[in-house]
Amino acid sequence: MIPAIRGTHDILPGQVEKWQHVERLARALCERYGYVEIRTPVIEREELFAKGTGESTDIVQKEMYAFTDKGGDRVTLRPEATPSMVRAYVEHSLEQSMAAAKLYALGPMFRYERPQKGRYRQFHQFDVEVFGLNDPAVDAEVIDLAWSLVAGLQIPQAELVMNSVGCATCRPAFQAALLAALGQDLAKLCQDCQRRASINPLRIYDCKVPADQPIIDRLPHSVDYLCGDCATHFSTVQGHLTTWEIPWRISHRLVRGLDYYTRTTFEVLGQTLGAQNALLGGGRYDGLVKTLGGPDRTGIGFAAGLERLVLALPESLVVPVLAPAFVVAIGEDGRAEGLRLLRELRRAGVPAQMEFEARGLRAQMKRADRAAARATLLVGGDELARGEVTLRDMRTGDQRGVPRADVVRETAALVDARSIS
Ligand code: HAM
Repeated sequence: MIPAIRGTHDILPGQVEKWQHVERLARALCERYGYVEIRTPVIEREELFAKGTGESTDIVQKEMYAFTDKGGDRVTLRPEATPSMVRAYVEHSLEQSMAAAKLYALGPMFRYERPQKGRYRQFHQFDVEVFGLNDPAVDAEVIDLAWSLVAGLQIPQAELVMNSVGCATCRPAFQAALLAALGQDLAKLCQDCQRRASINPLRIYDCKVPADQPIIDRLPHSVDYLCGDCATHFSTVQGHLTTWEIPWRISHRLVRGLDYYTRTTFEVLGQTLGAQNALLGGGRYDGLVKTLGGPDRTGIGFAAGLERLVLALPESLVVPVLAPAFVVAIGEDGRAEGLRLLRELRRAGVPAQMEFEARGLRAQMKRADRAAARATLLVGGDELARGEVTLRDMRTGDQRGVPRADVVRETAALVDARSIS
């Protein structure tokens, strides 16, 4: 046997229904909020992420599946979607063709991290991005979409946390205050923090090393250093969330692990996930489109990890599926009629199956049971003689003869009741 690569997973029948449930809601919400799908390649030039995600990030420093291809180009499997979305926006001049570029994508991402619960090397994101809209109501809309996804999935005890990391105008003063407050303590922090201090000091707030925490807890808060515009923007975002009755908490340490963020940052945390507790994260990135060679357009978005959403679904989740109908045919004539009926059911939109190999009544009924059929349709000699089909409700055990002409309609009515997967 050749096993799957560490940190990658097959999503098997039995699990995949939960994925489809999550993806269905994600797509439905995007449609409701006016976001359109975009699909970009999983492989990109390495420099897109070095420039986009940022040189100081763990992603670019340690986690990329980057290699030289046979043509000698440096390429990488995408570790996140945002730089790819920006590239596509710039490359196709979408700012000219779309009045408001509100986009979403679903697909696999790749990071060479140490696998653990909720953290994988191939994982999947539902990613939402908005370009060229600066109003705080857009921040609130994006957060609302994220929150509605988690709420719609009935994920218990989820918590929305927010912060503002300021902009190019106010960030330097905050960074200076941060380094001043660190002072002599900088030498006591871990190696990663020392490196961060020289490249992007804000990232010190991301540190998880226990010994560093007392020092980091004493550091200043970015919200106290916001310029007037950033402060107004952030308080307006909060005002909208209040209006929409979305609860949140400010987390001064929420600077996020990527370099491009400006102003609003946010995450939704789940309580059942252990160490990898971020169900989704995002924020504004007002300079990224320009950095990647595009016009001076703002950006905001988030990405949710599908594995984490699936893990956090409530145990009691009932995934709505259409229960299938099962055709049971006896004898050669019954079988010929059964096959005709099978196709009629399917053409009428009723999910229907038939057992092709087992011919005996008991064997076929057993298969119908195993398929969790809601209805079986029995066609044998007696039924053929009467011009009927015996329709059996597998849940109640009731059965009756239904005229052949009515059986598709009656079956449709019976199985349309949604059932438990
Ligand atoms: P991120 O925080 O790196 O942000 O990832 C977003 C989400 O992807 C996380 O909250 C988590 O649910 C999931 N995730 C990340 N890494 C892994 C992993 N190794 N295994 C499983 N799930 C994982 C971004 O990627 C940004 N592009 C989000 C964004 C969009 N910001 C603005 N627009």
